[in-house]
Formats: sequence, C-alpha cells, structure tokens
Amino acid sequence: MRVSKTWEVLRWLPMAVLLCVVSLSSARAADIHQGVASCAGGICHASTHPLGNSGIRRDEYFIWQQRDPHAGATATLAGERSRRIGAALGLDPQTAPQCLACHADAIAPAQRGERWLATDGIGCEVCHGGSERWLAEHSRPGLSLAQKTALGMTATWQPEVRAALCLDCHQGDAAHPISHAMMAAGHPPLLFELDTFSALQPPHYDRDADYAQRKGAADAARDWALGQALAADRLLASLAQGQLGQGLMPELMYFDCEACHHPLTAGRWQPGRNAGTAPGTPPLADAALYWLGLWLQVAAPEAAGEWHRQLVALQTSTGQGQPALQAAARAARGQLQERWLPLLRERQLNATQLKSLLRAIAGTGESVRGRDFLAAQQAAMASLVIADALRQRGDALTPAQGRATEALYAAVRERERFNPGDYQAAMRRLRDSIP
Ligand code: HEC
Ligand code: HEC
Ligand code: HEC
Ligand code: HEC
Repeated sequence: MRVSKTWEVLRWLPMAVLLCVVSLSSARAADIHQGVASCAGGICHASTHPLGNSGIRRDEYFIWQQRDPHAGATATLAGERSRRIGAALGLDPQTAPQCLACHADAIAPAQRGERWLATDGIGCEVCHGGSERWLAEHSRPGLSLAQKTALGMTATWQPEVRAALCLDCHQGDAAHPISHAMMAAGHPPLLFELDTFSALQPPHYDRDADYAQRKGAADAARDWALGQALAADRLLASLAQGQLGQGLMPELMYFDCEACHHPLTAGRWQPGRNAGTAPGTPPLADAALYWLGLWLQVAAPEAAGEWHRQLVALQTSTGQGQPALQAAARAARGQLQERWLPLLRERQLNATQLKSLLRAIAGTGESVRGRDFLAAQQAAMASLVIADALRQRGDALTPAQGRATEALYAAVRERERFNPGDYQAAMRRLRDSIP
C-alpha cells in the first residue's frame, strides 16, 4: 500500500534529511523509550495529589492514567467501534500500522527499552520524547530548557513544537496517514484547535506564575493563529507532494466533508462559498488557510489580499489536474513560510485588534460555509479562544458577549443536535455585541 511504504521510508531516512523534509512537522528522534513505568515512580510523577514544592505537580502519571484519553488510545483499538472499522477495511486494528501510527507509541523495535510496554498507550515519551539521554538528568536543578532539548526532550512548552506534535495525530501526515476510507468505515472526523485541545487534555501541569517564569507566558490568540498556520502548512505540504492520489477518485480527506455530505437543497450553492470553486466542484478543506486569512485581515490588512488570491488560485487549480494543484500548493506554502509565519511569530494583537478578529469570525456565521457543522465548530472554538485571550489581557467580555459565546458553544456541542439556525443566531448576537 502506498501510504505504509511512505511511512517505512520516513522511518529509515537519516535524521538530518528528515529534519529538512518535514521541518514543520514534529520529527521524532531515535532515542530509546524507556516506558511509562520509568516515569511513574511515586516520588517522581506518580503522587496521587499535587506535591506543590518543586514547581511541577508530581501527580502527572496519576492524571494521565485516570483521566487522559491518550492513556487508553491503544485499548480503543480492541473496542467494538474499532472492530467494525477494521472489518470494513479488512485489517486487524490491534496490529495494523495504519491504526497504531496514532493510537500507540509507534516506534521501531530497536527503540523499545526494557520497561517499554505496547499497552502503555500514548505514554509520556510519545509527547515528551524518548528519555534515553534525559531520564537521569532532567530533574537536576539548574538544567536549562535548551539543555533538556539537546538531550532529546521535546520542547512541548514552545507553541510551534507543541502544535506540530499534536497535529501529527490530530490532523495526520505522511507518517500518520488517515483516509476517507477510514472515515467512511466509522472513524470520527478529525478536528483540532491547539488552544482548545490543550485545554481539553486533562491538564497535568499548572499554567501559573511559576510556570510562566520557567517556560514563558501563554498568548492564546497567537497560539490559535500559529496552530492554524501549521495546520495549513501541513495540508499544503501533502497537496504539494501529490498525496491527493492518482486514481479515478482523489483522496477525499483533503476536501471539505460537508461539501458532499449534506442534504440536497435547491439554491444551497452560493458564489464565494470557497472562492475559486465552480458550482459542483468540491472545495478543498481549506478552513485553516481561511482562518489564517482572517487573522491577516486584522494584523496586516495590506497583505491579506495577497493570501486571498493565493487561496483562490489553490481552489481553482483543483479543476486543472494534479500538476497545477501541486504547483499552487507549493506557491501558497512558500508564501506562508516566508511571509506569514515570521509575521505570526512576532506580532501580538492588541485588544482592539482582537475584538476586530472576534467580530470577523462571528461574521462567518452568515455564509453557507459557516453553516457546516465542522466549520461551525472551528468558528466556535476560535471565538472562545479569542474571548479568552481578551480576558487574559484584563479586557473581559461584556455580559451580552459572554452570553453570546455560551450560546455559540452550546450550539456546536453535538453534531446530532446541531441546528444551523441557532448557531447563526448566536453568531449574529456575538457580532452585533462587538462595537
Ligand atoms: C501519537 C498520537 C497523538 C498525539 C501526538 C497527540 N494525540 Fe491527542 N489523541 C490521540 C488519539 C488516538 C486520541 C483518541 C484516544 C481514544 O479515545 O482512544 C486523542 C484524544 C485527544 C483528546 C480528547 C478528544 C476528545 O474528543 O475528547 C484531546 C483533548 C487531545 N487528544 C489533545 C491532544 C493535544 C493537546 C496534543 C498535543 C500536546 C495531543 N493530543 C497529541 C492521539 C494523539
Ligand atoms: C492520523 C491519526 C489517526 C489514525 C491513523 C487513526 N486514528 Fe483513530 N483517532 C485519532 C484521533 C486523534 C482520535 C480522537 C478524535 C477526537 O476525538 O478528536 C481518534 C479516535 C478514534 C476512535 C474513537 C475513540 C472514542 O473514544 O470515541 C476510534 C474507535 C478509533 N480512533 C479507531 C481507529 C482505528 C481502528 C484506526 C485504524 C483503522 C485509527 N483509529 C487510525 C487518530 C487516528
Ligand atoms: C499528549 C501529550 C502528552 C502526554 C501523553 C504527556 N504529556 Fe506531559 N505535557 C504535555 C504538554 C503539552 C505539557 C505542557 C508544555 C510543557 O510544559 O512542556 C506537558 C507538561 C508536563 C510537565 C511539566 C510541568 C511543568 O510545570 O513544567 C511534566 C512534568 C509532564 N508533562 C510529565 C508527564 C508525564 C510523567 C507523563 C506520562 C505519565 C506525561 N507528561 C504525558 C503533553 C503530554
Ligand atoms: C467529493 C465528495 C466527498 C467528500 C468531500 C467527502 N466524502 Fe465522504 N463519502 C463520499 C461518497 C461518494 C461516499 C460513499 C457513498 C456512501 O457510502 O454513501 C462517502 C462515504 C462517507 C461515509 C460513510 C457513509 C455515510 O454517508 O455515512 C462517511 C462517514 C464519510 N464519507 C465521511 C466523510 C468525511 C469525514 C469527510 C471529510 C474529511 C468526507 N466524507 C468527505 C463523498 C465525499
């Protein structure tokens, strides 16, 4: 199978090459993983309550093991839903690399230490890096973050590194391929927003003053935009590499799900739904690129038109064959990396700009795009993150704005109960509440 071959190749490429090829994806080092048991000593990370005298909590293992869905991710593959997915695809979910890539610590046998267990699920070292060189060192007082990183610890405290890590599995890439066939077989659609998902993962660290002093303060609005930019970069990389497939049907994962999966309603199609697409052609799943465009409109209005033109060219190219699409994706990716990523890293939005951004996001509720469930969820997450960023700056929402964001959140909680009318009303309320 094409994808698993890519996966094998990526695993064996020399590290230096890998780092260049996937510079914005979280390239994993070859250090040995010593297993969750080596982190879970009582005095280290397995207290049953925070010890509160060393900066870190020390009950990280307890939280992960009791409440974090990552701990049970491998066990999920033995469940009923996975069995159904496996049966439909003709594979055994508990042994298929197609599933283990994201539901387990999918390292080469040579990297498995003595205490490493396949049943550990997505354990500490999947996120924090193989501990071969840092286990004995990392608690030494005075060891700097740079020294930890040099010893192979993943710099999860840096938003870009964290985003790349999460996106590996929550969006997928060549090393973690996910397909429309898996979705059709019953896999839940993947949806990710860095700040929201960081908050949803049962926290085993306290983002308090001490944390900020050791590792830097959070900037929710910047993290949101960076998360979108890195998601966009990953999509463009896949398209530029021609992963759309060569068969009669392209790989539908890269298209907007709701473009096809919606009831047939006369007059539903609207010009400008995804600028650049003609009636009847499915648009690419360009949500992350689109959100980045909204950020640019506020942060660098003089440049936003350029990105918009790039997006239109990308969507138009899907009707012109693989080479045209690959070229358009490469051009868009070049612009993103050379211009927008550096801008994102340095520019912090002020309160007025954050409110404009929130208003622009709320404004998307009026478009057809905004009525799709996945787009609605993304917009709601974005609104809540920006609202939170304002609160962080001491610029709290008015009660009316607060109620509108709550109604928004309620409207997108469950696909089964999603009512576009309620959602649009909440978006309108939010937009109109921002002067
Ligand atoms: C190695 C793959 C992998 C990585 C890396 C990863 N995740 Fe996950 N994550 C998963 C899988 C698989 C699940 C589903 C687990 C299950 O229920 O079986 C999941 C579930 C979650 C959930 C629960 C989602 C829900 O709907 O309840 C959150 C929140 C989450 N991850 C956040 C994160 C964050 C934040 C990061 C980065 C710091 C991250 N994940 C990194 C694979 C990964
Ligand atoms: C690209 C990474 C990726 C691949 C590949 C992948 N999954 Fe998942 N899977 C996830 C993530 C992430 C979630 C959590 C989604 C969420 O809630 O946001 C998940 C969720 C699930 C769930 C739902 C868990 C729950 O508690 O509701 C099942 C079941 C599942 N995956 C089975 C499989 C099977 C079987 C395969 C192989 C055919 C597979 N997955 C391949 C990333 C992946
Ligand atoms: C899905 C990814 C993920 C998994 C699995 C995970 N962590 Fe974390 N961990 C994070 C993120 C993200 C942070 C916050 C960024 C940072 O400070 O590095 C963090 C922070 C920490 C911190 C630093 C707290 C501080 O105040 O500086 C410790 C200690 C820690 N994790 C230990 C563990 C242990 C032990 C396990 C396994 C039982 C584990 N983590 C599993 C993602 C993960
Ligand atoms: C270009 C059109 C198109 C796009 C885009 C598309 N699909 Fe599909 N999907 C189909 C077709 C055609 C089938 C097969 C017909 C069937 O099974 O009803 C299908 C089947 C499915 C099924 C199983 C049958 C059903 O209707 O429940 C699921 C689930 C699914 N797709 C999810 C998704 C998700 C998630 C996305 C976005 C990542 C997506 N699809 C994008 C056309 C599309």
